[in-house]
Amino acid sequence: MTREKSYQAARGTQDILPEEQPYWRYIEGAASEVSRRYGYQRIDTPLFEDTALFSRSAGEYTDIVQKEMYTFDDRGGNSLTLKPEGTPAVCRAYLQHGMANLPQPVRLYYISPIFRYDRPQAGRYRQHYQFGAEAIGEGDPILDAEVIAMAWHFYKTLGLNDITLQLNSIGCRACRPGYLAALADYYAAYTARLCPDCRTRLEKNTLRLLDCKQPACQEIAQAAPRYADHLCPACDEHFTSLQKYLKLLGIPFQLNHRLVRGLDYYTRTVFEVQPREEGGQSTLGGGGRYDDLIEELGGKPTPAIGFAAGIERIILNLKKAGVSVPAPPAPRVFIACLGEAARDEGLRLAARLREAGVSAVAAAGNKSLKAQLRQANSLGTPFAVIIGEDEVKAGTAVLRDMAAATQESLPLGELPRRLAV
Ligand code: HAM
Repeated sequence: MTREKSYQAARGTQDILPEEQPYWRYIEGAASEVSRRYGYQRIDTPLFEDTALFSRSAGEYTDIVQKEMYTFDDRGGNSLTLKPEGTPAVCRAYLQHGMANLPQPVRLYYISPIFRYDRPQAGRYRQHYQFGAEAIGEGDPILDAEVIAMAWHFYKTLGLNDITLQLNSIGCRACRPGYLAALADYYAAYTARLCPDCRTRLEKNTLRLLDCKQPACQEIAQAAPRYADHLCPACDEHFTSLQKYLKLLGIPFQLNHRLVRGLDYYTRTVFEVQPREEGGQSTLGGGGRYDDLIEELGGKPTPAIGFAAGIERIILNLKKAGVSVPAPPAPRVFIACLGEAARDEGLRLAARLREAGVSAVAAAGNKSLKAQLRQANSLGTPFAVIIGEDEVKAGTAVLRDMAAATQESLPLGELPRRLAV
């Protein structure tokens, strides 16, 4: 007989085991609470969409579109792609459901799996989860401040204090060409020293030259022209107002002239939240304005801003910072039974307890009493109920307080009331 292959989760994906779940519940709880406080409503979009939606949004020469999308043809010959980010899907839903007719901005949030064919490493997966928020239909910088405050507030309520907020403006259609020309001029003198990727960027995606991670390219980027010096008056005013609002809210930020983000749809405000002690690989979340995207997707000109946070990276940082998260409560009672008649009684009792709202786990299999109590111990149930032949005859059960190691005999009918929390 040939040995069966032993299956592993696909490279870059992971199981979220029960012991990890408290982190997830904790983060999801904080995400929905912060969304509630800022007036954002939940939206869930499908896991896959038309490929064109994502390739048009992210930009043809981005890593996401060039290397990272999980794209496939379905049986009907349609090209579909697993969501490589949440923003285009939310914009598509905004357009499809006529949300432009609602009072603007429309404030939405999501918690969703995201798929990117990335090189797996700590904090970088091929399936990860994002908490994201999008505010669509308003260009006022007060909204930029709101979204940044919401992101900041989210990390802070989680207990992540050693974080920084990096901020930049990458202008609009009006001032971008002038800045890109200045950037290309500057880089022209360094072509020979650039990495091969950056040589392509110089041709196809000049802005991304600024955030190359290669040391030689980083050195060249140091003295590159700054967008802040090339903003048109409207973008300059927007950026100045945003900084005023952030100061007013007491949110500390660092201007980072090299922050450009990895998606092409951004306009004006871009920002990232990073752990203080590490660099780019560990970015906890980021976002920015995308004032042209909805129009690009076939809608009317509609300014918008949003952000997304990577949940796995948050968990890594919570662990590193030693933040403890609430453990889910163990079932309240374990029902141990000896003999067939006792098992029938135990089954009935478990049903009655659950009806009364008490979580109960009944023994299964043919284990000794000792083994059954060991199981109660490892589940951490505060109580065990023991039913043997004598108890069946008397219509009673033994209630054991596991921590105190005390027990008493009680009529079966009294247990739901006694165990109610
Ligand atoms: P992003 O910066 O590509 O932005 O992703 C947001 C966050 O997701 C990152 O900061 C990081 O924490 C996490 N992340 C990204 N890739 C991975 C990965 N391979 N493994 C683990 N975590 C990862 C966006 O996706 C934009 N849609 C954000 C946005 C919303 N902009 C406007 N609205």
